Amino acid sequence: MKSLLRVLGAFLPALAAGPARAEPPPGLMLGSSWYPEQWPEERWDADLSRMQAAGLKLARIGEFAWSSIEPAEGRYTLDWMERAIAAARAHGIAVVIGTPTDAPPAWLTRSHPDTLRIDADGQRMEHGMRRQFSYSSATYRALCRDVVGQLARRFGHNPGVIAWQIDNEYTEDSFDPESRAQFHEWLRARYGSLGELNRRWGTAYWSEAYDAWDEIPMGTGRGNPGLMLDYKRFVTDTWRGFQKNQADVIRRYADPRQKITTNLGGLGWADRFNRRDVAADLDFISWDDYIGQGHLDPVRNGATDDLVRGWRRENFWVMELQPAFVDWAPISNALDPGETREVVWEDIGHGADAVAFWQWRSDLNGQEQYHGTLVGPDGEPVPLYAEAARTAAEMARAAAALAGSSPRSEVAILHDYDSRWAIDFHPQSTRYDQVGVLLDYYRGLRAAAQSVDIVDPRVRLEDYRLVAAPSLNVISKDVAARLEAYVRAGGHLVLGPRSGMKDAFNALNPERQPGPLAADLGGRVEQFYALLDDVPVSGEWGSGSATIWAEELSARAPDARVVLRYGAGNGWLDGRPAAVTRPLGRGTITYLGAVLDAPLMGSACAAWVRDAGAGGNTLAVPAGVEVCRRVGPAGEVFILLNHGSAPAHVGLREPLEDLLGGGAVREVGLPRHGVAVLLRRSAGAAPP
Ligand code: GAL
Repeated sequence: MKSLLRVLGAFLPALAAGPARAEPPPGLMLGSSWYPEQWPEERWDADLSRMQAAGLKLARIGEFAWSSIEPAEGRYTLDWMERAIAAARAHGIAVVIGTPTDAPPAWLTRSHPDTLRIDADGQRMEHGMRRQFSYSSATYRALCRDVVGQLARRFGHNPGVIAWQIDNEYTEDSFDPESRAQFHEWLRARYGSLGELNRRWGTAYWSEAYDAWDEIPMGTGRGNPGLMLDYKRFVTDTWRGFQKNQADVIRRYADPRQKITTNLGGLGWADRFNRRDVAADLDFISWDDYIGQGHLDPVRNGATDDLVRGWRRENFWVMELQPAFVDWAPISNALDPGETREVVWEDIGHGADAVAFWQWRSDLNGQEQYHGTLVGPDGEPVPLYAEAARTAAEMARAAAALAGSSPRSEVAILHDYDSRWAIDFHPQSTRYDQVGVLLDYYRGLRAAAQSVDIVDPRVRLEDYRLVAAPSLNVISKDVAARLEAYVRAGGHLVLGPRSGMKDAFNALNPERQPGPLAADLGGRVEQFYALLDDVPVSGEWGSGSATIWAEELSARAPDARVVLRYGAGNGWLDGRPAAVTRPLGRGTITYLGAVLDAPLMGSACAAWVRDAGAGGNTLAVPAGVEVCRRVGPAGEVFILLNHGSAPAHVGLREPLEDLLGGGAVREVGLPRHGVAVLLRRSAGAAPP
C-alpha cells in the first residue's frame, strides 16, 4: 500500500514550488565533505576541532547515507544527523545536506527491483556500488521524495544548515521499459503526430518511418540524427524531472534561506545532458573540480569555471576538490606543494564563492581508500592539511573585499549542447575535439581580454562587445535572429568552423553554412574538409597553419572581405578564402572556416578583441601569470596566479592593497604556484 501511494505520488502535481531564489549563501568558504555516519560519534568532535583549526567553514554531509537515514523502508533515524549538524555548528562550520539518493540502500533494491537501471546493452544493475537506480522510475522518485521530505521537515529550519545538494553528480540514463515509455510520451508531446516526427527526422532514409510511437528506438550508437538529438533532450528533461521531484519537497518544507544546488561532475565539460538547463532550476550551481593525473592546466580549469559560471551567469561553488590527489586516475599523482592552493584561488578568481575538499578522511573500508584527504586513517593531519589551513586563512583575509563581487567580461564564447551533440554523433574527424577547439578560442581571447564568459547562445548577447562561436553547428531560427540582432546593434560576432550547418532537428540546412546567417555574412562555405595534413594560411591576422578542419569560403556581397586565405595544400583549398568578414548594421560578422595553430589563433583573437574595443580593464603581466578580476562593492579585486615554472615579478602602474601580504604595493613577487590578491578600492568603499 505504501509503495502504491508512493507511485501515485510521483504523478501528483508539484506542491508549493517556491519562487526561484537567486542568491546563494554569502561569504567565501573553504570546506570539506564529511561522513559522520562512517565514524563513532565520540570521534566527531576531534574531527570538527581539526576542521575548525584549519579554518574550514563548510561541511557537506549525508549524500551517501541513505541506509543510515532510513535503515528500513519507512523507518527514519535522523537524530544522529541532528547531533552532527549541531556539533558542526558549535565549531563554526555550516552544513550542506546532500540528499542520499545516489546510493540507494540494499533493502530498496530488494523490495523494488523495478527501480534498477538498465544500461544501453540491456544489463540490469545490482546493489553494491552507487548509481544503480533508474532516474525515470516513478517508484524510485517516490522513495526519494519520502526520504528527502523527512530530511527537509527535520532540518529545513535548522540554523546550522545553509544549503541542500540534490543527489550527487547526475550521470547515468537508463534503458528500462519505463524510460522507453517516457521517451515515447516525450516525443508525442514534442511532435504531436508521427507524421511530423517522420518529416523532421527524414525517416524515408533506411526505411526508418514509424507508424507507432513504441516502434521508436532509444538513441544509442549512430542512429538517426534527429532521434539522437531528441534523445539527449529527453535525458536532460528526465534529469530535470528527477531534480524537481526533490527540489519541490525541499522548497515545500525548508526556509528559503537554505539554498538548493547540485554538484555536477564529469570535469565540467561532460555532455550526457544539458547542464545549463539543469542548473536553471536551482538556486545556485556547483561543480566538482578534479585534475586526476597530471597537474593544473590553468586554461582548461579556468575555462571550466567560466563554463559553470555561464550556466546561470552568476558565481558558483566548487563542491568537491581533490586534496592533492585522487584514487581513480591511471597514475593518481599528487599536485605539487602550493598547487592545490593555486587551484582554489584560480577557482575563486573565476567566480567560486566556496570550495570544498573531497574528502576529510577515508572510511577505513570504503571503495575509495587511497583517495587524498586532509587527515589520515589515524585521524591526524596529512601534509596537505597545513596548505589547506593557509588557504583558508587567506580566504578569510580577502573575504570582505570579495563579498558580492564577480568576474565581468566584455567577451563571450558560445557553448551550445545541441551543437556539441550534433557534431559528436557524426564527427567526420576523430581529431575534431570540440572542447579543444573551444579552448583554442578561450586561450587567445583570455590572453587578450583577461576575462571571458562562456555562455549559451540564448543569453543577452548585447552585454558583450565580442561574441565568438566556435563549432556552433546547430543554429535554430531563434538563435539566428538573436545573433543577427546582436550584430546589427553593434556587436562583433565571430563564427568558427562547422557553424550553421544544422537546424534544431539536427537536419542539414538546405542552404550552405552558415545557413540562416549566410545572407548576413554575404558569403558562405563552399565545401568542408577534414584534414589529414596541415594547410598553410595567411592574411590580416598573420601566417600559420590550418589544422584538423578547413572550409573553403566565398565572399559574395560587395562589402564582404576575405581576411585569411589558404596557401598550397590539398589542392581543393589552394588560394581559397579561409575567413570572411563583413560590416552589418553597427557591428561586424566574421566567419573563420579553419582550426588554426596556436600562435595564429592568438593573433587572430588579439585582433578581434582590439577591433571590438574590448580588453580595456587588463593589467600588464609577464607570460605565465594569470590575472583574474572580480568587481564588487569594495572595488576591483585582482587575483594574480603564477602558473609558470619560474618566479615572476609584476610591476603595477599604481599602488594596490595587498590583501594577503598587507599594505599598499607597487610590485608583487610571485614564486612558482604563487598567488597575490590585490584590491583597487572603489572611491566610496570603506576600508575593511
Ligand atoms: C566524485 C564523487 C565523490 C567521490 C570523488 C572521488 O566524482 O562525487 O563521491 O567519489 O569523485 O574523486
